[in-house]
Amino acid sequence: DGPAAVSPTGRPWGGDAATRAQEGAFLTTAGGVPLRDTDHSLKAGRRGPTLLQDHHLREKITHFDHERIPERVVHARGAAAHGRFESYGTAAQLTCAQFLQPGVTTPVFTRFSTVVGSRGSADTVRDTRGFATKFYTAEGTFDLVGNNIPVFFIQDAIKFPDVVHAVKPHPDVEIPQAQSAHDTFWDFVSLHTEAQHHTIWNMSDRGIPRSYRTMEGFGVHTFRLVAADGSTSLVKFHWKPKAGVHSLTWEEAQLAAGTDPDFHRRDLALAIEHGAYPQWELGVQVFPDTEDQVFEGIDLLDPTKLVPEELAPVQAVGLLTLDRNPRNYFAETEQVAFHVGHLVRGIDVTDDPLLQGRLFSYLDTQLSRLGGPNFTQLPINRPHAPVNDMLRDGMHQTADHVGVAPYKPNTMDGGCPFHAGADVAFLEVPARVAEGVKERAKPASYDDHWSQVRMFWRSLTPVEQAHTAQAYTFELGRCFEQAVKERQLQALANVDAGLCATVAAGLGLPAPAPTVAVPDVAPSPTLSQVGRRWPVD
Ligand code: HEM
Repeated sequence: DGPAAVSPTGRPWGGDAATRAQEGAFLTTAGGVPLRDTDHSLKAGRRGPTLLQDHHLREKITHFDHERIPERVVHARGAAAHGRFESYGTAAQLTCAQFLQPGVTTPVFTRFSTVVGSRGSADTVRDTRGFATKFYTAEGTFDLVGNNIPVFFIQDAIKFPDVVHAVKPHPDVEIPQAQSAHDTFWDFVSLHTEAQHHTIWNMSDRGIPRSYRTMEGFGVHTFRLVAADGSTSLVKFHWKPKAGVHSLTWEEAQLAAGTDPDFHRRDLALAIEHGAYPQWELGVQVFPDTEDQVFEGIDLLDPTKLVPEELAPVQAVGLLTLDRNPRNYFAETEQVAFHVGHLVRGIDVTDDPLLQGRLFSYLDTQLSRLGGPNFTQLPINRPHAPVNDMLRDGMHQTADHVGVAPYKPNTMDGGCPFHAGADVAFLEVPARVAEGVKERAKPASYDDHWSQVRMFWRSLTPVEQAHTAQAYTFELGRCFEQAVKERQLQALANVDAGLCATVAAGLGLPAPAPTVAVPDVAPSPTLSQVGRRWPVD
């Protein structure tokens, strides 16, 4: 009867002509041979034994045996959706990136995630959330791989394995909530005090979002934009949810984790299924591209620092709408591969040492997670721009490359130009590299680990402060090691005496005196969630 248009469940069969996996009226082998029976193995006599010659049995079981791939080493649990990004054109003066020009609409795929838990963990745990968006632009793929917290734990990617080892379950019992895992997390952040800023965001209500739909997103690092006239500026990317920023209370989060561990995944899928499409505005904070890359005393290359919006307002540049759920979780949400190195003309990286290390890490991990170098050919990762590279062969190659000379220049495969003109090629900004000696060291501007933690604490409303102090008390209360609790109380004493006293009382320990003279910093009202609407109306 020819291929059926829809499956028995009424949903369209998967894929376009190139990727279609289910068509035709009969069940078949992977080789397309129609099957009469998929319920009984081929046996010598009705009571067996089973015969090795049963190709269908072996193919079915072998494929099943290999159904799983390694989960992501971090951000393993996630949910995603398709959508579109509509540019307002307001960034056209800042960047020549095609997808940010007036009137351009670009297809996107956004994946939200928790960081620490495994693929089957609960959604409403206290954690950072990933917010990664793939823009399938006409000039190639741009990935904005951010989080819902504007700062990061560490200042240099070389410490990423350390912080992840500290927070992941221990190798002996693999119990995520074991006391020992709390010990190592608090051991790390109290020894590496640059982590205190990210940690206070985690302990605040931001650590337990109400929904993916009500989270802000941040590119965290400073990026460099290049305009058509060659001028450059430094920017930080922000996602502002149209539905406002909302969190759960700790009690709600606990109940949800018990009664519906898929709370956020379900919320996103149902909202989209029912037409309540979540939306975010993309915005940029813009800073002059000065030689020192410091703005108002804040080192823009230090990913543990944010720039308060009072100092650099967020300017809206476009609207993200998620309006289509994935058809196949594995094919799309699991196999999508984001990479901070996926940049397009008009957007470049800076020398932030955390970003520099990420530029290596993502492709490297995906080579093993996705089984070889050809995962960009998977439909979810495939650029929507023409691809003409010299990458050949390798595991799972599906492209049928033509020609005999995958090198340039060559005289064999015709006169195909290999240099794009200056008006279309990716722009590497000829930025000056720092002077100095080659050494394993960091600038002095990375040494202030306290003033922005204090700024965040002072920006919270009394209710938010109470929740945050309760979170510190609860989480530290799960530590086994007295010395770890005491060292973290020491860190809190440097942030705020009142916060330290509250948590110390909750733990039944004395509150220490501060050891660092932290400058008094004004609160930043935009850091509080309460009444947080954007743009302010
Ligand atoms: C995954 C964000 C720092 C290594 C992710 C994901 C996000 C993210 C959102 C999930 C992507 C997805 O949904 O598939 C961030 C942010 C960082 C940061 C905002 C700091 C500002 C780092 C660093 C490293 C790193 C410093 C390593 C040096 C990884 C790896 C994955 C990952 C290996 C798994 C990727 C995969 O398997 O596809 N990160 N990350 N991240 N991140 Fe990061």
